[in-house]
Amino acid sequence: QDTTRLPLEYVKGVPMIKYFAEGLGSLQSLQLRPDDLIISTYPKSGTTWVSEILDMIYQGGDLEKCCRAPILTRVPYLEFRVPGHPTGVEVLKNTPVPRLIKTHLPLALLPQTLLDQKIKVVYVARNAKDVAVSCYHFYRMAKLNPDPGTWDSFLEKFMAGEVTYGSWYQHVKEWWELSRTHPVLYLFYENIKENPKREIQKILKFVGCSLPEETVDLIVQHTSFEEMKKNTMTNYSDIPLNLMDQNISAFMRKGITGDWKTLFTVAQNERFDADYAEKMAGSNLNFRSEL
Ligand code: PPS
Repeated sequence: QDTTRLPLEYVKGVPMIKYFAEGLGSLQSLQLRPDDLIISTYPKSGTTWVSEILDMIYQGGDLEKCCRAPILTRVPYLEFRVPGHPTGVEVLKNTPVPRLIKTHLPLALLPQTLLDQKIKVVYVARNAKDVAVSCYHFYRMAKLNPDPGTWDSFLEKFMAGEVTYGSWYQHVKEWWELSRTHPVLYLFYENIKENPKREIQKILKFVGCSLPEETVDLIVQHTSFEEMKKNTMTNYSDIPLNLMDQNISAFMRKGITGDWKTLFTVAQNERFDADYAEKMAGSNLNFRSEL
């Protein structure tokens, strides 16, 4: 069965991968546990990085335990559903508690229990331009997504929210709003990059865990881009070629801030900034402007 390059399907107004879309109805009534921890992001914003940091924390900094399985087995991908592969929910059922769970879903598509039971969420946001660039390279190789076409046409789709999981602008804003009333630790990729130790300390506090300083230093080192790129348990090298062809672009691609400057033209940048100002108007969610 060819699962690749299918058109997106709209669910509650959100464009989704066709197979994922089919599972979303039953996902809404999935019972989560009060001790689950959700790692939520718009795609390409640091999900894998923060997943590895959290698994290291949960395993008390034990490197061997963190190499027990690929990242998507240790941190199940909630809405994942592709013929021929275990679904995210199936993986979740076999995951020992306390569980870490990855999702990119916007609020409207999440299991109701997440909100009702006030389940803790670590949210990671990354600046829109770097996300757009990272998504573009990802779509070139991750063939569950539509073909991205040219960079210029992809950027237009990104701005219009006509990409997998919909609008970046709405995603980052709605989770920001939710963090007023729900236990959400709202992190920024750029801040983790700048000072991973400081951000890991925030995560430790949020999950109510303390670790010796040497262990925190070990986590910083083990979760650096260079280490995660060569680690087969984090670099997605286990994913079959028909789903991700890393010969086209590596999952662990560059791992830097400001890579948008390599693709945006001056005209694209001006158009993007004007549109951004409109879409983010009225929100007090601010990304670092120097990046
Ligand atoms: S996914 O598919 O949505 O779950 O992808 P996600 O993990 O959110 O994002 C992938 C981008 O994060 C970069 N990355 C890292 N950056 C810094 N340090 C570490 N340890 C790290 N791990 C992953 C990865 O390279 C992708 O960004 P780009 O800009 O494409 O390199």
